[in-house]
Amino acid sequence: MAKAAVKIKSKAKPAKKKKIVRARAGAAPQRPAKLQAARKEQVNRFKQTGTAQLSVDGAKPVEFPIYKAVEGASVIDISKLYATTGHFTFDPGFLSTASCDSEITYIDGDKGILRYRGYDIADLAAKSNFLETAYLLNYGDLPNKQQKSWFEYTINRHTMVHEQLQFLYRGFPRRAHPMAIMVGAVASLSAFYHDSLDIHDPAERELAMLRIIAKMPTLGAMCYKYSVGQPFMYPQNDLGFCENFLHMMFATPCEQYKVNPVIADAMEKIFILHADHEQNASTSTVRLSGSSGANPFACIGAGIASLWGPAHGGANEAVIQQLMEIGDVKNIPHFIKRVKDKNDNFRLMGFGHRVYKNYDPRAAVLRKACYDVLKELGQEDEPLLKIAMELEKIALNDDYFIQRKLYPNVDFYSGIICRALGIPTSLFTVLFAVARAAGWVAQWKEMIEDPTMKIGRPRQLFIGAAPRKFITLDKRK
Ligand code: ACO
Repeated sequence: MAKAAVKIKSKAKPAKKKKIVRARAGAAPQRPAKLQAARKEQVNRFKQTGTAQLSVDGAKPVEFPIYKAVEGASVIDISKLYATTGHFTFDPGFLSTASCDSEITYIDGDKGILRYRGYDIADLAAKSNFLETAYLLNYGDLPNKQQKSWFEYTINRHTMVHEQLQFLYRGFPRRAHPMAIMVGAVASLSAFYHDSLDIHDPAERELAMLRIIAKMPTLGAMCYKYSVGQPFMYPQNDLGFCENFLHMMFATPCEQYKVNPVIADAMEKIFILHADHEQNASTSTVRLSGSSGANPFACIGAGIASLWGPAHGGANEAVIQQLMEIGDVKNIPHFIKRVKDKNDNFRLMGFGHRVYKNYDPRAAVLRKACYDVLKELGQEDEPLLKIAMELEKIALNDDYFIQRKLYPNVDFYSGIICRALGIPTSLFTVLFAVARAAGWVAQWKEMIEDPTMKIGRPRQLFIGAAPRKFITLDKRK
């Protein structure tokens, strides 16, 4: 039946448009005029201090510039090696290769030094908080009061995720590994923010950075809530970054949840210590995938996939599993024997590091935080801590570990703290990802803002089959 359009004439005056007032906690701080610290000028970026000569098979030596680092090893710029000699370098695992220049993080593995933008990690862990550290990584310097309040306010206003994401979570099996969900959930933000993101626009890059830092705790806590079958908790903007994360993890809609300040402080430390670690596997993954101009949320998803492996961020989960497998202090000698057995692939999880050939400075901070948390929670007699302490004592005095410079790394203690907080082991690496996102996005931005950026494209030493003729199916053996 056709509908007739009926116009009703009313003599009544149209209601005045009501002014919509959005009630928000506190007035929005103005965006400070200056946020980003000055970066090195292009012309002064590399300080050449000498040359390296290379003669290939007795040919006339070719010279390559040597650039001096502010600290640490200098580099030989071999970018023209192929053009001048017809050879590539061969360095599987990047043992001697700097893949980029960076102003963000400095590590001296032999001395056990880690600095973000020049600030010592122990200082930051003792005196700063995670958001301030995230600002430092991304904008190049510690924020002043105005910058800090703007950053905190802005991050807080980006913590919510699109309601549609709940359905993405619900599509996963309940028993899915939280990192599997995290890879998908974070990468899926690219579907929500793709059209509105031009990575060549500084304002849009900044917005992507703010969104990534702000939404990671929400997405991480949703992984946990989904795995235990509890309702997702919305972020609360009046809480601090780590308090909010703990709230989204452990609060339920049924009762008040008060964040324990000792636990929130330990979480701040864990997040600060994990926020960046220069060109590790996951960060290099983020840079490499970002170098093609890909959506940054998808690149962070790629970084999360890389972080998941047990040789990288997955080690904190493996530490607890291994401590449980050891089970008792009296079993330690058996496991130490296994470590030394050349025919056994067994490794002590939470020991050793590609870069640190000294005590991991992050482990030193967390060792103390670990004691504080266990004391606060009345878990000083936690058997796993006893095993961990004894393991550390034996390893630090054992020739095998001394010769190979194997010390406890950050994952050795972070796992014990997280376990004491009631965080399931499978979620440990998610926490790592939440914190590391601040560094990943800082590294991504640094790369995109480099006018000389090129797509990352390593070469190879081909050792496969030489050219051969195609064999038809009937003649194949
Ligand atoms: N337990 C026992 N032996 C070890 C360990 C360990 N955890 N780590 C290294 N070694 C031994 C190796 O067997 C090797 O001995 P060899 O020379 O007799 O063959 C020697 O030390 C050197 O080992 P590499 O594997 O060459 O060292 P690399 O720098 O490549 O590896 C890594 C670093 C992957 C971290 C390694 O130490 C390891 O597997 N550790 C355990 C996993 C772990 O804790 N990962 C977390 C790292 S921290 C992070 O990502 C946040």
